[in-house]
Amino acid sequence: MTPQVKAFFDDATNTVSYVVRDPKGSACAVIDSVLDFDHASGRTDTSSADEIIAYIRDTGLKVEWVLESHVHADHLSAAPYIQEKLGGKIGIGDQITVVQDTFGKVFNEGTEFQRDGSQFDALFKEGDSFQIGQMRGDVLHTPGHTPACLTYVIGDAAFVGDTLFMPDFGTARCDFPGGSSETLFNSIQKILALPDETRIFVGHDYKAPGRDEYAWETTVGEQKALNVHIGKGRSIEEFTRMRDERDSTLPMPRLILPSLQVNMRAGQMPPPDEKGDVFLKLPVNKL
Ligand SMILES: [Fe+2]
Repeated sequence: MTPQVKAFFDDATNTVSYVVRDPKGSACAVIDSVLDFDHASGRTDTSSADEIIAYIRDTGLKVEWVLESHVHADHLSAAPYIQEKLGGKIGIGDQITVVQDTFGKVFNEGTEFQRDGSQFDALFKEGDSFQIGQMRGDVLHTPGHTPACLTYVIGDAAFVGDTLFMPDFGTARCDFPGGSSETLFNSIQKILALPDETRIFVGHDYKAPGRDEYAWETTVGEQKALNVHIGKGRSIEEFTRMRDERDSTLPMPRLILPSLQVNMRAGQMPPPDEKGDVFLKLPVNKL
């Protein structure tokens, strides 16, 4: 089964969002949507999400799922906005509870912040499956970048979030709280065990040196042969050494503090104060 996949690239955060459609009907899922956020002004904007919504309306699709591959640290999720406009259930990995526990502490959230994943409509674990119209989606738990990372396998398409990037760029960082390069290596083996012709859709692209165009679609076979971090049967020792060294040189993503506070709440802002105003926290020396 070959679902139709439409990609939307967000230049501001290098994120790729996807609409995956049942080729035999009108059911679809939205994966990893973006709510635009200007850090300097603290202002949100729905232009990116509105583009996805317009596409879904123009093509007469029906949203059944609004899926997150993980709690993103580089962009805010537009899942609740898309759900409000088009419906669908918001799903994420059940290990979100670990992420909520970690960042509930970092942001000193009170007891009103539930750490049980109840902000989401569905919590998936390894081996779970779900339906998008007539299509079945299967869930792989692929932690390492974060504890809650999932890969959604829908027909011949795998949405890998931030595990693998394009073969010439490699893999995702593993230095956020709860991340582990060893765990990521093992998760990637699960993805590479899918049939070689499986289409892989990545969660970000940064144009590897020497490449002029953004790209987001590759295959399991290409990843095995060409991935600069993990291809050609690289050993776990080689990979973790390279990954950990590289991670120690990377700056924190520009939007990590607002993103985590919003995304750990399934894309909702923190509750407003008594005047209805919403504030995000900026913890000092915590990350
Ligand atoms: Fe990420």
